[in-house]
Amino acid sequence: MAKYRICLIEGDGIGHEVIPATRRVLEAAGLDAEYVTAEAGYEYFLDHGTSTPQATYDAVENTDATLFGAATSPTGIKPAGFSGAIRHLRQKYNLYANVRPTRTRPIPGAYENVDLVIVRENTQGLYVEQERRYGDLAIADTVITKGASAAIGRFAVNLALQRGKKLTVVHKANVLPITQGLFLNTIMDIASAVTELNTSTMIVDNAAMQLVRNPSQFDVLVMTNMFGDILSDLAAGLVGGLGIAASGNVGDKFGIFESVHGSAPDIAGQGVSNPTASMLAAVLMLDHIGAHQEARRVDNAVSQVLEHGPRTRDLGGTAGTKEFTDAVIASLN
Ligand code: NAI
Ligand code: MG
Repeated sequence: MAKYRICLIEGDGIGHEVIPATRRVLEAAGLDAEYVTAEAGYEYFLDHGTSTPQATYDAVENTDATLFGAATSPTGIKPAGFSGAIRHLRQKYNLYANVRPTRTRPIPGAYENVDLVIVRENTQGLYVEQERRYGDLAIADTVITKGASAAIGRFAVNLALQRGKKLTVVHKANVLPITQGLFLNTIMDIASAVTELNTSTMIVDNAAMQLVRNPSQFDVLVMTNMFGDILSDLAAGLVGGLGIAASGNVGDKFGIFESVHGSAPDIAGQGVSNPTASMLAAVLMLDHIGAHQEARRVDNAVSQVLEHGPRTRDLGGTAGTKEFTDAVIASLN
């Protein structure tokens, strides 16, 4: 029997390219794993009327971790019965922490000395998707609880203690003292009791500016759901863009790892997508399940190819998904 069981969900669009590419790398890296493939996403919804079948829940629950490709959410419309697959999985399994590391890799034009992690609360805020419309008036609820704020606060504190011992709590409590204030105060109560930690607070708009001006000042940043969604894409842009940004959705029991990018319909099916983000999501997954040696092998091989080429188009190269993946496999050692 294999040591690990991994669930693979391609999802939509370029998920069908980056997940098989990543699987090839994991197999070549010698990971002792059995793979369980499952379906979810908008394409599945169009054919079956649901974005996530029961078999997918079973696969997530009966494996050590899940690697997810990408999912389409149609913009501006919400087809009856549709609920975004990844948002749904995050809620169902209470994957309350969305962990998004950003680190300088050898890519031309990348900021130097960036090594930070955005910890995004993953279950609440504006993304509870409670919207209503009354004629020309539209309202969206934002939900913050003390319990969920404390959980994400503890997660961020623990992560910061394992890293550079610096935590920045990002907020907008000056304008939204009740919701953002509850988030901020709950986390500060926890973090300020941890004396080994250097904790500070920063208003989100300033944080956006500081991330562009001087990202090296940051170690771990914690924030509510939508701020984390936006600022983590900004952070990805500092070091090479969405093609290389990975994330983990982590709860107390399950972990689902995915690239930060979406289904990229503009390039899907052309074989030109950059599988780096998915491969680096797999690295996060490997560390999560304890396969640290394989994680370092894959991480190093990806960095080598990013440095020496061939690079994919989004990073200024001409390689397609397959050529890049072949090069990563050849660089494994
Ligand atoms: P996107 O991330 O799919 O694409 C943005 C741009 O980056 C596009 O020009 C795309 O070609 C490029 N890009 C993205 N990933 C790339 C890769 N691996 N290699 C090379 N180029 C890459 O975002 P977009 O276009 O705003 O959204 C498309 C769909 O994806 C939407 O339905 C959206 O809701 C969904 N989405 C899903 C996410 C998820 O599954 N977590 C996250 C973001 C968007
Ligand atoms: Mg996003």
